Amino acid sequence: MQSIFRTVVIVRAKSPYVAVVLVALLLAVAASGCVSTGAKEKVLVVGTSADFPPFEYKNASNGQITGFDIDLIKLIAKKMGYDRVEIKDMDFDSLIPALQAGKVDVVIAGMTITPEREKVVDFSIPYWEADQAVLVRKGSGIKVSSVDDLKGKKIGVEKGTTGAIYVKKHLGNSSTIKEYPTYVAALEALLNGQVDVVVLDSPVAKMFSKKYSVEIVYTIKTGEHYGIAVKKGNKELLDGINKALKEIMNSPEWDKLVEKYFGS
Ligand code: ARG
Repeated sequence: MQSIFRTVVIVRAKSPYVAVVLVALLLAVAASGCVSTGAKEKVLVVGTSADFPPFEYKNASNGQITGFDIDLIKLIAKKMGYDRVEIKDMDFDSLIPALQAGKVDVVIAGMTITPEREKVVDFSIPYWEADQAVLVRKGSGIKVSSVDDLKGKKIGVEKGTTGAIYVKKHLGNSSTIKEYPTYVAALEALLNGQVDVVVLDSPVAKMFSKKYSVEIVYTIKTGEHYGIAVKKGNKELLDGINKALKEIMNSPEWDKLVEKYFGS
């Protein structure tokens, strides 16, 4: 900018008319420069399914999507030099197709790393562990001490999740399985008595049991690990994510994040 003004000043000394034209021209160039800087803004497009507290959920007061995963991906993006992240909320079931279609750059959604999914997307290093929990209405009297006790029950799950895959595999022939597009819908069905139990990730079940009239009666030790997914073969992005994720996990930022979303 300084050199531009110097030029203008010199020209102005020679001819005021030329100077006016030049100033106008330079302003136009500067303005277009600003616009193109805006267009070059580095945005990381993130897919999630905001029905999974405390990992991703809609803030009750303003509807904003927030949560552990959201803060984490923002920290990662910042470390990687992105100007901002853009969150796209969709059903869990649509996340991998969105990644494959290039509609989102990454998926962070408490997504379990599984061999089946690893065939179609690439995962970061794991950042969280979970099991599957069996949630019932408080006072339902339903007792579960093994997976077999779920036989004959109406089981609610979220479509496309590891919980859904597990119950279909182990109880598909012996119980009624109802698949919902979101956990919010599955939880509603439980509260309404449309299903007897909901099978879902243990940290989220715990969160639901704090907020609603539901309780965990059994945990299926599935030993799952959550990872951030990118399109298969997107090595550059994945390497960047892993590097940033490792740094964050080894820094006090991680403890702050855990405390913020899992602290009492
Ligand atoms: N961990 C489970 C899975 O990968 C459930 C994840 C559901 N996530 C969500 N944001 N609704 O299948």
